[in-house]
Amino acid sequence: MPFHRLTPILLCLLPMWVILTAVSGHPQHSQCQLIQRTALCNHGKLSFVPSGLPGHIEELQLNYNHIQTLQDNSLLHYPSLNTLSLACNSLEKIESNTFQDLKLESLNLANNNLYIGYTETQHALKKLLSIRTLDLSENILNDEMAATLLQNLTSLEYLNLSGNLLQRLDETSFRDLHQLKELNLQRNILFEIDAAFDSNPKLQRLNLAFNYLPCLIDFHMTQLVVLNASHNFIEWFISRQDLNDTFQLETLDLSDNKLLFFPFLPNQSHLKNLYLSHNSIRFYGHLSNNTILPNWTTTVEFYNLKKYRSNMTAMLWNDSLHGDISSLEILDLRGNKVDYFPEGFMQKMSMLSRLLMCTNCLETLNLTSEQFSGSLYELDVSNNRLKQIVADEGTLTTLGNLTYFNLSLNDLEWLPSRLFYSLPSLRSVDLSYNHIDICLSEEAEISRDTSSSCVDWRNTVLLKQLYLKGCNLERMPSSAFAGLSLTHLELSDNPGLIVQHSIKSLSRTLQHLGLGNTHIQDLDFSPFQSLKYLNMSRNSLTHLPLSLLNLDLKVLDVRDNRLSTIPSDQANMLAPKLHTVFLTGNPFNCCQTEWFKTFKTINMVGQSEIECEDLFQTTHRVEHLKSFLCLENDGESMLWYILLFVPICLSFVGISVIILFTFKSKMLKKSIKKKCLKPTSY
Ligand SMILES: *[C@@H]1O[C@H](CO)[C@@H](O)[C@H](O)[C@H]1NC(C)=O
Ligand SMILES: *[C@@H]1O[C@H](CO)[C@@H](O)[C@H](O)[C@H]1NC(C)=O
Ligand SMILES: *[C@@H]1O[C@H](CO)[C@@H](O)[C@H](O)[C@H]1NC(C)=O
Ligand SMILES: *[C@@H]1O[C@H](CO)[C@@H](O)[C@H](O)[C@H]1NC(C)=O
Ligand SMILES: *[C@@H]1O[C@H](CO)[C@@H](O)[C@H](O)[C@H]1NC(C)=O
Ligand SMILES: *[C@@H]1O[C@H](CO)[C@@H](O)[C@H](O)[C@H]1NC(C)=O
Ligand SMILES: *[C@@H]1O[C@H](CO)[C@@H](O)[C@H](O)[C@H]1NC(C)=O
Ligand SMILES: *[C@@H]1O[C@H](CO)[C@@H](O)[C@H](O)[C@H]1NC(C)=O
Ligand SMILES: *[C@@H]1O[C@H](CO)[C@@H](O)[C@H](O)[C@H]1NC(C)=O
Ligand SMILES: *[C@@H]1O[C@H](CO)[C@@H](O)[C@H](O)[C@H]1NC(C)=O
Ligand SMILES: *[C@@H]1O[C@H](CO)[C@@H](O)[C@H](O)[C@H]1NC(C)=O
Ligand SMILES: *[C@@H]1O[C@H](CO)[C@@H](O)[C@H](O)[C@H]1NC(C)=O
Repeated sequence: MPFHRLTPILLCLLPMWVILTAVSGHPQHSQCQLIQRTALCNHGKLSFVPSGLPGHIEELQLNYNHIQTLQDNSLLHYPSLNTLSLACNSLEKIESNTFQDLKLESLNLANNNLYIGYTETQHALKKLLSIRTLDLSENILNDEMAATLLQNLTSLEYLNLSGNLLQRLDETSFRDLHQLKELNLQRNILFEIDAAFDSNPKLQRLNLAFNYLPCLIDFHMTQLVVLNASHNFIEWFISRQDLNDTFQLETLDLSDNKLLFFPFLPNQSHLKNLYLSHNSIRFYGHLSNNTILPNWTTTVEFYNLKKYRSNMTAMLWNDSLHGDISSLEILDLRGNKVDYFPEGFMQKMSMLSRLLMCTNCLETLNLTSEQFSGSLYELDVSNNRLKQIVADEGTLTTLGNLTYFNLSLNDLEWLPSRLFYSLPSLRSVDLSYNHIDICLSEEAEISRDTSSSCVDWRNTVLLKQLYLKGCNLERMPSSAFAGLSLTHLELSDNPGLIVQHSIKSLSRTLQHLGLGNTHIQDLDFSPFQSLKYLNMSRNSLTHLPLSLLNLDLKVLDVRDNRLSTIPSDQANMLAPKLHTVFLTGNPFNCCQTEWFKTFKTINMVGQSEIECEDLFQTTHRVEHLKSFLCLENDGESMLWYILLFVPICLSFVGISVIILFTFKSKMLKKSIKKKCLKPTSY
């Protein structure tokens, strides 16, 4: 191996190098920057630890160098060192006496090749009697190598083993790490964990994300505060139900797994944040009726867990077994298959402030029977199958803290009447892609029912953001936004919408206006002096509305229109103010692309996809446009040149032919005879 052959040479060179550095002052020093007691020698192409640094340094950073071996004597000069960082070298081993007499507390060995010399490295590490933080991520370590490296590290508190090749963990894996508080095992290939953490009673944060775990059953780590097991293949999460202790668990992340059931949470816990997005969770209470399906199993049992432990049994189908959810504040169920909430489920979560239910199968939502807590702040039920939302006046009053309400992408036809009046904290409502109308003033007065097929928000002063995309809006009562002070209004995807009068009342406050795909051609924007963002995409615009030019716009979206150019004076007015512009999907004229240079200073989104057409209807990327395509900026001129040149060329050709015929007529005759009058062979 080249490694073995190289080592003696390196070892021989070392003393000489040390002498040289002593004689010539601090040649290596120049690669390091000293800040008080910290030496920063990152990105230095170093193969050795520099020896000429001040002896009292406490922190030494040698990241991104070429150190392969950390030699016994390499840290001799720095007895006060407590933090050493060697990430991203090609470190293969640390010689066993390297850390003799050092009191290192933090050692970063991330992104190296310690899989090669892990046995010798272990002898070095075990001398670190006060080590608290160790980063061994990305070192191609397997189970045995990691277990070896971690022997005797009894003082370790923070350990990072992410990005290695760990497959299974058992009671020997972390046996000596009695002080361990935080363990990162992300991005390994773990498929089994068997009593691995029994020797780590202080473990509080465990990250198992991006592994291959099929289940977490018999979960009994009562001391754990954060468990991240996202991005695995977990079908079952079942905690031990027979423990009397309160679990300290506050955050549980099981998103991006294969859960079919709501997790079986601990009986008593302080769980605040529960992330379950992107699973296949639903509730099955309607299947638990034994008279309909008498022969269905009602329990799932897990055997052979450990000989000294009882078999696990989890009751299926029973909606009332969800453990302690009374402290939940965030429940993220996005992207599951929930079609209803079990009775009393919401009621149990008296502290719930954010419920994220986007992309599920809810068909109705009766806020009255669910009894959400008054602390509800965000409710996202977008992209479900909701036809109506039911709530009586009293219920709405208790939802006084609701601030963000997303109802988009449903089939809503009915909403509680006076919804907007009864929710005083409401700031943002998304009603996009529903079949909702805006009440005419008379309708609003008449409606005394609890449900209404139109919405009315007049005079709800605190509402700031209203999203009404794709609601088939055409008639927009002129008083629709009276008394509001909206900053965001999204009306895109309502083809044929007429808005001019109704949005006038918002001219003072509106900052963000969406009018994409509304067929709007021109609108007088001059009163909207606060406007910062304007979407006019997909409207067949042939020119920019002139009233835009005086606004203080930051973002302008005019994608997919019929713009052939942006006149220089307009571009010059817009460019200094804009910082982002969307221009793709327009049939620009290649001979009128001065604006492109003007806009080069700002962020043109999809710049390389902006196209133009030349005289011959060929499309080009404006970015790569060759100037010879157009003789002048004016597109017409090239046509004139062609019209002028063609007759001249034609007459020239004609004259040449005549001359040829006159002077070479004899030759021509001959060749005609020869070629054309020859008797054919067939
Ligand atoms: C190191 O750990 C091993 C196994 O865990 C143990 O046998 C040995 O006694 C320990 N050595 C010291 C010095 O603690
Ligand atoms: C390893 O984990 C620690 C915290 O546990 C973190 O600070 C560090 O950035 C992680 N290192 C890598 C390479 O992810
Ligand atoms: C869990 O880990 C993943 C991957 O590192 C991360 O994206 C996610 O934010 C973590 N979850 C929590 C709750 O911190
Ligand atoms: C829990 O408490 C009950 C009675 O309070 C007791 O019978 C049971 O043994 C305890 N279980 C455990 C695991 O300590
Ligand atoms: C935990 O809940 C389960 C199911 O509700 C119950 O059988 C068990 O007795 C409870 N255990 C404790 C310790 O409360
Ligand atoms: C179970 O189904 C039967 C027949 O549909 C019905 O009469 C009974 O009320 C149901 N029981 C429960 C608990 O839902
Ligand atoms: C349920 O099981 C019993 C006994 O095994 C059997 O006789 C009965 O037909 C089954 N019922 C259904 C609905 O499958
Ligand atoms: C677990 O279940 C198996 C199979 O039913 C049984 O043989 C074993 O005795 C059970 N163990 C305990 C501790 O109950
Ligand atoms: C579900 O479990 C609860 C408590 O253990 C019990 O009261 C209820 O009857 C069970 N429901 C069904 C349908 O089995
Ligand atoms: C909504 O729930 C309340 C309380 O449970 C009930 O009185 C009302 O009939 C329900 N409304 C609908 C439309 O289901
Ligand atoms: C709104 O939330 C605050 C704390 O976030 C709480 O004190 C208040 O009671 C809540 N309002 C309602 C109506 O529950
Ligand atoms: C509402 O939800 C939809 C779909 O989940 C999302 O695209 C949209 O951005 C959300 N609206 C707001 C205002 O966040």
